[in-house]
Amino acid sequence: MEETSIAGNATTKTPSSAVSLASEATASSVETARTMVDVERVDFCYGTSKALHDINLQIPEKRVTAFIGPSGCGKSTLLRCFNRMNDLIDQAKVTAGEIRIFGMNINASEVDVTGLRKQVGMVFQKSNPFPKSIYENIAYGLRIAGVRDRRVIDETVETSLAGAALWDEVKDRLHESALGLSGGQQQRLCIARAIACQPEIILMDEPCSALDPIATAKVEELIYLLKERFTIIIVTHNMQQATRCSDFTAFFYLGRLIEFDRTEKIFSHPAQKHTEDYISGRFG
Ligand SMILES: Nc1ncnc2c1ncn2[C@@H]1O[C@H](COP(=O)(O)OP(=O)(O)O)[C@@H](O)[C@H]1O
Ligand SMILES: [Mg+2]
Repeated sequence: MEETSIAGNATTKTPSSAVSLASEATASSVETARTMVDVERVDFCYGTSKALHDINLQIPEKRVTAFIGPSGCGKSTLLRCFNRMNDLIDQAKVTAGEIRIFGMNINASEVDVTGLRKQVGMVFQKSNPFPKSIYENIAYGLRIAGVRDRRVIDETVETSLAGAALWDEVKDRLHESALGLSGGQQQRLCIARAIACQPEIILMDEPCSALDPIATAKVEELIYLLKERFTIIIVTHNMQQATRCSDFTAFFYLGRLIEFDRTEKIFSHPAQKHTEDYISGRFG
C-alpha cells in the first residue's frame, strides 16, 4: 500500500474547481492516511444487469467514509464487494476491475474468503444478535475461530463490549438473552461482535435506520470512537448522519460514483450538480 504522505506540503490546497478524487482529497488535509480499500475500474453485474459501472475509489485507513445516494444506486452492492458477501448471491460478480485491500486483490482465486471476512466485519441495517446470551454472542465467534482459553474469551467479551460502549449497560446481565436488549443496544452488541474478531475494516449498511434518535446518537458517538482503531464504511440515507460522523463521503447515482471528497466539501461545495441536487433534497 502507498503511503499518501504530504509532509512538507501541508499548505497545498486542492483546487476548488477540481472534481476531487481520493488522492486529492487526502492531499488537501493536514494528515497522513494510507489507502485501505482500493477500488479500480470496477464493474459489477447481477446476471446480465450491471449494477456498478467503472467505480474508482480509494478509501482511507482509520477514517469514516459514508456512501450516500438514492435507493438502488449500488451502495450496498459495493459495500458487500469488500467482504465478498455478494458471493452468496447467484450470478452476482465483479466483471471488470480490481478491489485491493492491503494491496491484495480480494477476488483472486487464492484468497481465503473466511480470513477476508475476519478482516472485514459487517453490521447490518437490522440488528441480528444470535438468540443466545449477551456473553455468547461475542464468545461464539471466538470459539469458531479456535479460541479455547476461558480467560481470553472473558477478556475479549469485556473489551469488545467496552469498545462498543455497551459494557456498563450489560455487565451485570451477561448471561441473559441478547434478545432482551433494546434495539440500540442490540445494534451495539452486533458492533461488539464485529470488533471481537479484531477486523481492520467495519462495514455498516444503514446501521441506524431502525433506531430512534437517542439510540442513533449513541451509535454515531461510537463510530466516532471506533475510527481510532478501524476503517469504517457506512451506508446512510441520513444526510445529517453523514455530516456528523464521516470524514469522507462518496455520492453514487445509477450505479456510478459521481463524487468523492471530504465530507465537509461534499456538503458545502460539491463539484457536481447531481451531488448538490441530491444533498439539497431535490431528488432521492
Ligand atoms: N440480489 C440482487 N439480485 C439482483 N439485483 C439486485 C440484487 N441486489 C440489488 N440488485 C440491484 O442492484 C442495484 C443496486 O442495488 P443496491 O446495491 O441494493 O442499491 P442501494 O444499496 O444503493 O439501495 C439495484 O438496481 C438493485 O435492484
Ligand atoms: Mg442498500
